[in-house]
Amino acid sequence: MKPGERWEFAAFWSGRVLWDVSMARYSTLRTGGVAEALVTVTHLAELKKLLAWLEERRIPWRVVGRGSNILVRSEGFAGVIIQLQGEFNHVVRLEESVEMGSDPVLVRAGAGCPLARLVAWCTNHALGGMEFMAGIPGSVGGAVRMNAGAWGRAMADSLHSITLIDRSGRVMEVDQSGMRPGYRRMELVQASFDDLIVVAATVVLKRGHQRQILHNCRENIKKRREKQPANMASAGSFFKNPEGDSAGRLIDAAGLKGLRHGQAMISPDHANFLVNTGDATPEDILSLAGEVRQRVYQKFGIWLEPEVHII
Ligand code: EPU
Repeated sequence: MKPGERWEFAAFWSGRVLWDVSMARYSTLRTGGVAEALVTVTHLAELKKLLAWLEERRIPWRVVGRGSNILVRSEGFAGVIIQLQGEFNHVVRLEESVEMGSDPVLVRAGAGCPLARLVAWCTNHALGGMEFMAGIPGSVGGAVRMNAGAWGRAMADSLHSITLIDRSGRVMEVDQSGMRPGYRRMELVQASFDDLIVVAATVVLKRGHQRQILHNCRENIKKRREKQPANMASAGSFFKNPEGDSAGRLIDAAGLKGLRHGQAMISPDHANFLVNTGDATPEDILSLAGEVRQRVYQKFGIWLEPEVHII
């Protein structure tokens, strides 16, 4: 922000704002540069007002979810990081699907809602379809934005529609026909995602048996624990799987498990997990990722692409 704009913002914004925040606190990698401001928004009217203010002054902004797939460079972020809470955390069953016995059931979740909360809500209401998400640490908005997935399923498979807001505050609803999902990627037919914020998602669910749904969730969490390092700070899989192969297999076959740059390390448990063993800096992570890319390219002729969004 320009000199004086912080004061202006403080006068304008009645909600929660934190200045000069280390993004290490908001990233599951537990490292990251400083963001000039971190603002918590709790309802749509507030979000519109905030966007208008920031756009008018050309102040960069970015929405983050649960921080499970981001890394803010050491230079930090000269702008406003937005977190969606309050009404953006809500999960509701849509009226039209309430009649007894009707399937499918439509459930709308705010973008800020943790996936774990959505999965638990579905289980409590004996609604099946989101079990594959059990154990994924992100938010609903983040899962839509990057078409998060596991066990051969991805967010897009469950989506009925998404609600978005553009830079000018216009709210739009996009149904499946307007989406172009790909592997860890979501694009829209009508607009670029860079200019949009996901505010809610409506998922299609099926009535089921609570015990079975709970069992499926537990099995998925167990499988994750068996394969993936659970007690180390990470951003999950760091690289996307290249077509027809697996980044974890390639990094492993290149002999890179346990490789360290500073406090960043290739997990000995799963080679596609770059873990923070203590006080890794963003550079530690990025230089380790750089070496991984080089070495995998030298050995296999494949450039791995990060799944993690580097800000
Ligand atoms: N492998 C190795 N060495 C390793 C790790 C894996 O040889 O160190 C081999 C495995 O033996 C297996 C293959 O690589 O043959 C694939 O490994 P895994 O089954 O662990 O799945 P993945 O492709 O690494 C993907 C997703 C995960 C998701 C799991 C389960 C990506 C990049 N990762 O992992 O998603 O949980 O499948 O569905 O698509 C994430 O995106 O953050 C994430 C954790």
